[in-house]
Amino acid sequence: METVVSGIRPTGNLHLGNYFGAVKSFLKMQYEYNCFFFIADWHSLTTHPHPDNIRKSVKTILAEYLACGLDPEKTTIYIQSDVREVPELYLYLNMNAYLGELERVTSFKDKVRTQPNNVNAGLLTYPSLMAADIIIHKAVKVPVGKDQEQNMEMARKFARRFNQIYGVEYFPEPASFHLSEKAVKVPGLDGSGKMGKSEGNAIYLIDDEKTIKKKVMKAVTDSGPTEPNSEKPEAVANLFAMMEIVSEPSTYEYFNEKYNTCEIRYGDMKKQLAVDINAFCAPIREKILDIMANDAYLEKVAAQGAEKASVSAAKTLREVREIIGFRP
Ligand code: ADP
Ligand code: TRP
Repeated sequence: METVVSGIRPTGNLHLGNYFGAVKSFLKMQYEYNCFFFIADWHSLTTHPHPDNIRKSVKTILAEYLACGLDPEKTTIYIQSDVREVPELYLYLNMNAYLGELERVTSFKDKVRTQPNNVNAGLLTYPSLMAADIIIHKAVKVPVGKDQEQNMEMARKFARRFNQIYGVEYFPEPASFHLSEKAVKVPGLDGSGKMGKSEGNAIYLIDDEKTIKKKVMKAVTDSGPTEPNSEKPEAVANLFAMMEIVSEPSTYEYFNEKYNTCEIRYGDMKKQLAVDINAFCAPIREKILDIMANDAYLEKVAAQGAEKASVSAAKTLREVREIIGFRP
């Protein structure tokens, strides 16, 4: 069975973008592949050097993964910092990672701009740590959103380079994986762009009904079309895109028809969208709260995941040490 790896940094709660961009693929893949899904807490140190509450953030994401339907019996769910072999592989990859190529990574350049007082070596070597996460289980598929493409190219490059340097065919080259032909982009409802934590426009799985309604009713629209079948401006297109993702096709069709005949009332559409988002989130929200209250269960899942991930990682590191020529 082919191996799959993916991770999310614990820098906030999961939102609809994370769900439809990444977690939904995890849910499908867990029944078809040998999956490792982890919480990238070491990666979060590159931007959050004093994680006041890293244990709480990790616990929250773990509960959210489980509430979404990740099944710890079918898949290995673990916390990155529980697998001590990862930094050893990261060290080997860093010995063959070059300043020029690391400096050219767009997300590094962005961070140099946004956190000029903390351009640390971890930020520079973010792609080698991510490559270590992936190739440590010899994964061939990695479900991630479109924004991770450059990190994925680096992961392939580091895998290939290791093989070339040591004259082996050891690490497979991992490919990005998307559920549908086109990578899903969950839009923000604030006029343009995607939904994201840093964009400040996220609807979280944990948001209650009132919060969801408030966020949706604030969505940017316009004064409505004046010509039948006119093209939708971006903000309106985003509202429809969101409805297409969470509502019944017939609901989407109903409002689309109203738009095309210039009878759309955005207030009604937003009310319906808020109801549909809440209907989607409510059962997940309840489960998150239940699971969060069950520390013993969370601890058990984390321990079981750490054990399974460590067995896989230790096997790889034994072989890697032998390939490089260290003592077993
Ligand atoms: P954020 O952008 O909120 O900080 P992350 O960078 O932690 O989210 O992303 C975690 C995962 O969720 C990645 O695989 C990313 O591609 C995916 N993702 C995040 N936002 C969206 C979105 N709006 N649409 C689709 N996928 C998304
Ligand atoms: N860089 C990813 C993100 O920001 C998180 C991540 C770390 C990851 N290691 C990974 C994703 C390995 C997939 C595989 O979303």
